[in-house]
Amino acid sequence: MSDLPLLATSLLDALEEPALLVQRERTIAANAAALRLLGDSILGTDVRLAVRQPHALRAVLAARPADLEVSGIGGLERSWDLQVRPLEPDLLLVRLTDRSATRAAEKMRVDFVANASHELRTPLATIIGYGETLAEDGDFPSEHRSRFGRAIHDEARRMLRIVQDLMSLSRIEADRFVPPDGRLDLAEIARIAAENGRRLAESRGCRVVADVADGLPQVPGDFTQLLQLADNLVGNAVRYGCGPGSPEVLVGARQERDAVLLSVRDRGEGIAAVHLPRLTERFYRVDAARSRDSGGTGLGLAIVKHIVERHRGTLAILSKPGEGTEVQVRLPLA
Ligand SMILES: Nc1ncnc2c1ncn2[C@@H]1O[C@H](COP(=O)(O)OP(=O)(O)OP(=O)(O)O)[C@@H](O)[C@H]1O
Ligand SMILES: [Mg+2]
Repeated sequence: MSDLPLLATSLLDALEEPALLVQRERTIAANAAALRLLGDSILGTDVRLAVRQPHALRAVLAARPADLEVSGIGGLERSWDLQVRPLEPDLLLVRLTDRSATRAAEKMRVDFVANASHELRTPLATIIGYGETLAEDGDFPSEHRSRFGRAIHDEARRMLRIVQDLMSLSRIEADRFVPPDGRLDLAEIARIAAENGRRLAESRGCRVVADVADGLPQVPGDFTQLLQLADNLVGNAVRYGCGPGSPEVLVGARQERDAVLLSVRDRGEGIAAVHLPRLTERFYRVDAARSRDSGGTGLGLAIVKHIVERHRGTLAILSKPGEGTEVQVRLPLA
């Protein structure tokens, strides 16, 4: 490295992504990012130590311009673009560009389209099946006809709910970088959400109680979105966390240092730890059949997460099987 012009090493160091200079199959220089990723021992040694993926190594040893994808450097899930550029005879610049985030986003988009299509196709298949039967069979016993009619109606409503939730999600996402311009009292949101959940709760022998502090400072927020968030959380607590042995859902709002905490707690059966990190994924449900039976689309917590992000707040889902679930949303005061 000592015979390398100073300009070359400062150029390398100015690059944020990992970069190496390779001369006669030896790594003669590496910037800080490359040393962090590949280890200090790559410096001054055979390039095979730095580049271990066979197809990547072939490209480097060929010493011709090349662009390829490499995965598994610095972690199994990570993907990189590798660039080989001859600078002079015998001197190569090798650069790595991290593509993990782009690849993950691509995968999410593909999964999302597949999931959404699947969720819509299921009710659609029922509608088509019942519709066909009704259309073909002229003298159908009337009790069957009304049963089929109801099923068609229910499944169509279900499709409508999915479409509405998807539209709501994409509207919230579109506003991601637009800070909410209102100011509001989360205690009021908590009270309204508790009231909104009352009817559903009563039908299950439960009650929803608002437990809010007086004189809470206002937070910047979008009233409609935050009420949608609170309604979703109360709906979940009532549908999945409320029953004979656990009849109370508590909706709280109180100040916590420079944030206001909105929380919804139930004493239901709780959620196993393996599910917790995935709950905010679109269409993710712990028990798909049960969620569907109660009219769930699996989009509620995804919507909650996006609303919290738009408000620059934080979301925590604390749950223990057998003890219940508490969802906490913290919104900054300013
Ligand atoms: N308080 C809770 N107690 C137990 N399980 C819960 C609770 N809240 C959510 N879950 C689980 O998390 C899953 C995802 O919740 P989410 O709100 O995203 O979807 P959903 O309720 O199924 O449908 P949607 O809210 O779109 O109508 C639910 O299906 C349920 O299995
Ligand atoms: Mg829900």
